[in-house]
Amino acid sequence: MKFDILTLFPGFFDSPLGESVTGKAIERGLIEVRTHNIRDFATDKHKTTDDTPYGGGAGMVMKPGPVVSAIESLSEGAGAGGGEGAKGGKARAAIVILTTPQGVPFDNKRAKELSGAERLIIVCGRYEGVDERIREFADLEISIGDYVLTGGEIAALAIVDAVSRFVPGVLGDDTSAETDSFSEGLLEYPQYTRPEEFRGRKVPPVLLSGNHGEIEKWRRKEAVKRTAGVRPDLLDKAELTEEEREFIEELGAG
Ligand code: 6GU
Repeated sequence: MKFDILTLFPGFFDSPLGESVTGKAIERGLIEVRTHNIRDFATDKHKTTDDTPYGGGAGMVMKPGPVVSAIESLSEGAGAGGGEGAKGGKARAAIVILTTPQGVPFDNKRAKELSGAERLIIVCGRYEGVDERIREFADLEISIGDYVLTGGEIAALAIVDAVSRFVPGVLGDDTSAETDSFSEGLLEYPQYTRPEEFRGRKVPPVLLSGNHGEIEKWRRKEAVKRTAGVRPDLLDKAELTEEEREFIEELGAG
């Protein structure tokens, strides 16, 4: 799978993506990440990429020209501005994503969906804003949470990382992207490893019992309990049994 990142700060990406799981995935050729400097597509002498807002106000706004030229240099036919595509119903080879706090919330479901694309083109917006006309050239606008980052770069990293986990072979164990937090609409159950006792705190005995049925039951219950405590909003969409709903009721969190 290919990722193209359009940014004013290409250097931002080298180190984080070179490490750990994404680093290995790149090394093994499972994913390919390329960065492109939006500034290279500015046409004036000073390579201007932003300007003051029409109508006045504080801050600068990203100019449409350089960003759209950068998108077009990569995406023959991709993007809403590219004509053939979205409405035809065919899966598109490239999806153009604009990172913005005004986008739709990014979650694991979206990450999995996007992992089916051949190529993602991710445009890093700057926090003060991008010219509204840029939006027409993106298929999707994504936000990674209800806070404002100084630029879309960290959001782009989050997207590349979360999507890559769903690319076959990227995780050593292919099933783990499916069984971790959110996969069943719940947060993940508590995990333990050696030692059996750490500073007086013992591993729950059921995990040492060797009884896989009981272990599964315990894990599921803990996942429900944890989700009810920290993210009750997730319970509405989670698939729960009648018994589990009653259990939540008893916890006083449902
Ligand atoms: Cl995608 N961009 C910026 N600048 N801030 C954000 C964000 C994106 N998602 C949450 N905050």
